Amino acid sequence: MSGIRIKGTGFSVPEHIITNEYLSQIVDTNEEWILTRTGIEHRHHLSKESHSDLCTWAARMALKNAGIQPDEIGACIVATLTADDLVPSAACALQRDLGLPQDSICFDLSAGCTGFVFALHTMECLLANNKKKYGLVVGCETLSKIINWEDRSTCILFGDGAGATVVEFDENYSSIQAIYGASGNDQILRVNGVDPNKRSLIYMEGKAVFKFAVEVVPYCLDEMLKRTGKKIDDVDFFVFHQANARIIDYVVKKYHIPAEKYYKNISEYGNTSAASIPIVLAELWEQKKINKNSCVLCIGFGGGLTWGGAMLEFS
Ligand code: UT7
Repeated sequence: MSGIRIKGTGFSVPEHIITNEYLSQIVDTNEEWILTRTGIEHRHHLSKESHSDLCTWAARMALKNAGIQPDEIGACIVATLTADDLVPSAACALQRDLGLPQDSICFDLSAGCTGFVFALHTMECLLANNKKKYGLVVGCETLSKIINWEDRSTCILFGDGAGATVVEFDENYSSIQAIYGASGNDQILRVNGVDPNKRSLIYMEGKAVFKFAVEVVPYCLDEMLKRTGKKIDDVDFFVFHQANARIIDYVVKKYHIPAEKYYKNISEYGNTSAASIPIVLAELWEQKKINKNSCVLCIGFGGGLTWGGAMLEFS
């Protein structure tokens, strides 16, 4: 026995809302296609805020909800690929802005939309060897900065946002029992790195990634149930990465997961990548759909290709 539990959650999205109607004026698309093919009604894009602002606001909310002071934090991980700067990392910017202790370990983790799940697992390992028992795990993405506006099948998908959790490590808590994987298939979902001759833009072969998603999410779900010895009925809530409403609909139908046990907020935020799972967690907590006794199964998938699952409890 020993593991982490979620002690507080928070989230933040930019004010500026991009509607399907607006997109249909600037791109060769239409509101009906976007809604029926993705479930997205609108998304939020940065205007006056920065990536660092979103991280800070979400993390402050999580700390407040957890009742934890910044000086109690021993480690901070931000799952992201769109930080304001490569150096300093978004996590180091958070360390500075929140006043986290100077001896806390702070770094960014890049695993696309699976980033938050990988970060939770990494945090559980880190806190097992840390003199402090609290950690900050943030998923933040500002993909609007790297949207390819000439690709109508991807430019309509992405939104900006941040979700944060304060986690508590204890030797008497169960592990989140994370599963994780990567396929090395880097051809169907890419963002090229820093290159003076080209802009970094999102490239995704939607259909191929969709096919991957509807195979890997059931795989993760089965593996997590096997690993934890739980059945579908033992899980209070299922939180899936919000990539496309049709992926979630497919999975809940396949497993007969009742409507009150899963959540979709993709209509409001679009695909926020590493931020999508922690934003869902924060909204579920705020709406009192989950509480201290809940057992929540999270599944993320995306760039890499990568995938991962974790069974979360709360304290
Ligand atoms: O977060 C990381 C993981 N990401 C995912 O899991 C995303 C997975 N993929 C998807 O969500 C979907 O594949 C997309 C939403 C990206 C695309 O939906 P799709 O149903 O797979 O559409 P498609 O790319 O196969 O395109 C179908 C048709 C095409 O027209 P034709 O060739 O049938 O005439 C496209 O040109 O829809 C057309 N199309 C559009 N039409 C209007 C593609 N994008 C648009 C658009 N508006 N924005």
